[in-house]
Amino acid sequence: MKNNEINTTNIENKELKNKLKNNIEHYVKPYVISNVGMSLDGKLATIENDSRISGDEDLKRVHQIRKSVDGIMVGIGTVLKDDPRLTVHKINSKKEDNPIRIVVDSNLRIPLNSRVLNDDATTIIATTENMGANNKIKELEKKNIIIIKTGINKVDLVKLMELLYKKGIKNILLEGGGTLNWGMFEKNLVDEVSVYVAPKIFGGMGAPTFVDGDGFKTVDKCTKLDLKNVYKLDDGVVLEYFVKK
Ligand SMILES: NC(=O)c1ccc[n+]([C@@H]2O[C@H](COP(=O)([O-])OP(=O)(O)OC[C@H]3O[C@@H](n4cnc5c(N)ncnc54)[C@H](OP(=O)(O)O)[C@@H]3O)[C@@H](O)[C@H]2O)c1
Repeated sequence: MKNNEINTTNIENKELKNKLKNNIEHYVKPYVISNVGMSLDGKLATIENDSRISGDEDLKRVHQIRKSVDGIMVGIGTVLKDDPRLTVHKINSKKEDNPIRIVVDSNLRIPLNSRVLNDDATTIIATTENMGANNKIKELEKKNIIIIKTGINKVDLVKLMELLYKKGIKNILLEGGGTLNWGMFEKNLVDEVSVYVAPKIFGGMGAPTFVDGDGFKTVDKCTKLDLKNVYKLDDGVVLEYFVKK
């Protein structure tokens, strides 16, 4: 947990503040909020990977959540395509406000010059037990990157959540993309969803969607949500849901 206790002074949203506090007592895995910006047809980017979806106010909303959580998690696909920093920089903030960055990367494909490896915040790379003591791990450790190994061919997300919780990461903002989102929804590891829907249609079968992967086979098995809040922001809408457990 940031500074060993939740920094409640920075959390503007009282409801979120209370939930994060309560999570310490009630969960043995981090409380996970899945957030995306998507087009009305559910795409996270165009077929040419143009992901300019959110307006200024939505970016501020997301950075406010980043500032409130202990960890922020993405898949290696997003790092390779977007090279994000995953820090708090669209709102007033200090370096200590940056959450711990977690990259899920089974085969250590992460380039050593990725921005997520800079020293703006602590970074954890979750990889697999297949990754022995190789040169890449040595290079990453030289940069003070923390390596967690779990799973054989793919990162075991259930075990990863337990390990992160034990490290003091009590709440996580999951920022995708669609493949990692599927992994997390499939294993019922997401507790809350917040989505900014832009009034745009991207189309394209190959364009990434909010949740990709294999998909649930029947409606009975799918993730079900309870609408918590909806409001207009920029030229779109924000939808917030709790995941039914
Ligand atoms: N609009 C938005 O809000 C938003 C947010 C984020 C991303 N995006 C977009 O999403 C796209 C990237 O999405 P993506 O689906 O290609 O990549 P991704 O979800 O970021 O990363 C997926 C990768 O994570 C790794 N992984 C390891 N263990 C896994 C597990 N148990 N379950 C699932 N994945 C696991 C896999 O690679 P290995 O097998 O190599 O480990 C997998 O290919 C980009 O176009 C980006 O711009 C948009």
